[in-house]
Amino acid sequence: MNVLFFSPGFPAEMPHFVRGLAEVGARVIGIGDQPLEAMPDTARNALAYYERVESLWDEPAILATVRGLADRVGIDRVECLWEPGMLLAASLREKLGLPGMTLGQTVPFRDKEEMKRVLDRNGIRTPRHARATTAAECRQAAEHIGFPLIVKPIAGAGSADTYRVDGEKGLEDVLPRIRHVPEVSVEEFIDGEEYTFDTICAGGKILYYNIAWYRPSPLLGRSNEWISPQTVSLRNPDAPELAGGLGMGKEVLKALDYRTGFTHMEWFRKHDGEAVFGEIGARPPGARSVDIMNYASDFDVFSGWAEAVCHGRLSQPLERRYNAAVIFKRALGQGRIQRIEGLHSLLQRFGPHVVEIDLLPIGAQRRDWKQTLRSDGNLIVRHPDLAATLEMADRVGTDLQIFAG
Ligand SMILES: Nc1ncnc2c1ncn2[C@@H]1O[C@H](COP(=O)(O)OP(=O)(O)OP(=O)(O)O)[C@@H](O)[C@H]1O
Ligand SMILES: [Mg+2]
Repeated sequence: MNVLFFSPGFPAEMPHFVRGLAEVGARVIGIGDQPLEAMPDTARNALAYYERVESLWDEPAILATVRGLADRVGIDRVECLWEPGMLLAASLREKLGLPGMTLGQTVPFRDKEEMKRVLDRNGIRTPRHARATTAAECRQAAEHIGFPLIVKPIAGAGSADTYRVDGEKGLEDVLPRIRHVPEVSVEEFIDGEEYTFDTICAGGKILYYNIAWYRPSPLLGRSNEWISPQTVSLRNPDAPELAGGLGMGKEVLKALDYRTGFTHMEWFRKHDGEAVFGEIGARPPGARSVDIMNYASDFDVFSGWAEAVCHGRLSQPLERRYNAAVIFKRALGQGRIQRIEGLHSLLQRFGPHVVEIDLLPIGAQRRDWKQTLRSDGNLIVRHPDLAATLEMADRVGTDLQIFAG
């Protein structure tokens, strides 16, 4: 099977999915804007063919290139696991008459109002919501929905331009800051814990699922630099307190008629236990989330996805052994990393449970924590017991300090 893979070298997880495809016997044809020399080895070694394009966003040019590839090497599937390319991939499938998600099936995964409209029709609990393109429409929506509320881009990612608004004055403060966003979603603010529901499906059947817990909520983690945000892949996604989200997740996939590939849903568990839908993407989560799924089960989710896509099955045995937490660190101070404190004593205390240390080296320039959740690096810890996992993750949050200057 020849699989056209959109942007095999970027973002960071893509090379592993490409590797997975090659491992299950697919011939992977990459299309991307990186020079082949700049491609991570993992991807380069797995590609049967690579076509470099000037821009990934010039749809007519991409279509012409892909038609050429289809004639020369043959294409059986088009796969894109990167949010900004989802619609383009759907359009390519339609134009080439290939199986997989159509434009019509993709839009509800991209447009946050359309998404909630479909789910509302199917009786799924979404936050009260409205679409707004002008300041006047935002004010009107606020009146209708009530405070506190959330204003966020219709096609957002990474919590960019997302604001909690507590009253009329707050709304007036936020409106000028979102003037550059063409269309926003105004939503009832849901107070609760935030979780994911991630799946690999084939032919409309769930072959693998994962629930991860965000500590704290992504909005808080991305608004406060001092926080070390955690994502925890839970060993027991079937715990009774998660049943509302798990059930909702299955209903959501049905309502959107999802067939084959990776999905990443986010949902809230309110303090009274009610599950409320957040959002869903037809792609895997980023920011090391797939890696912690792997660490939780000593499993290879990357090739699991590839097998599901190419062969409609997932044959690796799944044994949920651990809770696995990734903790993202942000340095204190600006500039280059000067020193790292606390790592030694953390390793003495939790050594065998720390499965990955991926911190920027001394001398490296700090990353922009607003732009990338990867921040200045991360640790991954795992333990069969959830309380022990959370304790370690919190210790990494408080006791590991990176200094820049
Ligand atoms: N209705 C809501 N109530 C409470 N918090 C919300 C609401 N909508 C969004 N948020 C907060 O803002 C964050 C970002 O919103 P959302 O997930 O819709 O956008 P995104 O930018 O696509 O996210 P991602 O970071 O997953 O790419 C959420 O994770 C949550 O913390
Ligand atoms: Mg989100």
